[in-house]
Amino acid sequence: MTAQPLYDSIGAGYTATRQTDPRLAARIWAALGDARTVLNVGAGTGSYEPTDRDVTAVEPSALMRAQRPAGAAPCVAAAAESLPFADQSFDAAMAVSTVHHWPDPIAGLLEMRRVARRVVVFQFDTSETAWRRRFWLTRDYLPEVANLVRGRPSLARQARAIGARIDPVPIPWDCVDGFFEAYWRRPEAYLDERVRRGISVWTRVGPGPEQRAVQALAADLASGRWAERNQAILAIDEAELGARLLVA
Ligand SMILES: C[S@@+](CC[C@H](N)C(=O)[O-])C[C@H]1O[C@@H](n2cnc3c(N)ncnc32)[C@H](O)[C@@H]1O
Repeated sequence: MTAQPLYDSIGAGYTATRQTDPRLAARIWAALGDARTVLNVGAGTGSYEPTDRDVTAVEPSALMRAQRPAGAAPCVAAAAESLPFADQSFDAAMAVSTVHHWPDPIAGLLEMRRVARRVVVFQFDTSETAWRRRFWLTRDYLPEVANLVRGRPSLARQARAIGARIDPVPIPWDCVDGFFEAYWRRPEAYLDERVRRGISVWTRVGPGPEQRAVQALAADLASGRWAERNQAILAIDEAELGARLLVA
């Protein structure tokens, strides 16, 4: 690890808006099968770590490690691309909302495959051409998100690298884990600075696009334009926004 981990500068206050969503957790834990020993890679503050299994966490950011609650699983300072564990030393390895931050996703996934008999990864598919129109926030207010994913290996390529199947995961309208897509039916949330600071996308696009997007969204909410454009989603309780589980 050479550069300062991003989350050492943006991770303060992470747990204010980023917590385990029980419906997503149920999907992840089911995919872990009967694994007794579990490695959680890019573990952050410990969200989604099952309490009924023997968990070891890996997290490169000291600021994130420091926010793990007392009694959380032991956490090793390391990165996915070079896991300090012997081959096949865990029943399963999991990674949640972290692969998009890894400098070399394929190397990290192959490391998970090396150290564990089962691999479970939760992430969003940003590789199909339609993805930019899938979520109104990216489509209508923050097209700069496209710059963040350019050149990254596609989800299909990641899955092929570890022989994973790809399962869609709908996002509930009241998702309690405040990631970028979580507030798809609660648009006012994105006007809240505290919500945005829990989402790396806002920092990564920079203050100019952030301010422009927030001002435009605020205006459209006030005028009723947002509701007019997005009527259809107000009637559904879970949305297909490209969230996927890779299970190998
Ligand atoms: C959005 S947080 C997700 C944390 C946690 N898994 C969760 O679901 O709340 C992304 C995490 O990935 C970590 N990360 C960044 N680069 C990494 C790498 N190369 N290997 C492992 N973790 C990494 C960050 O430090 C951060 O804690």
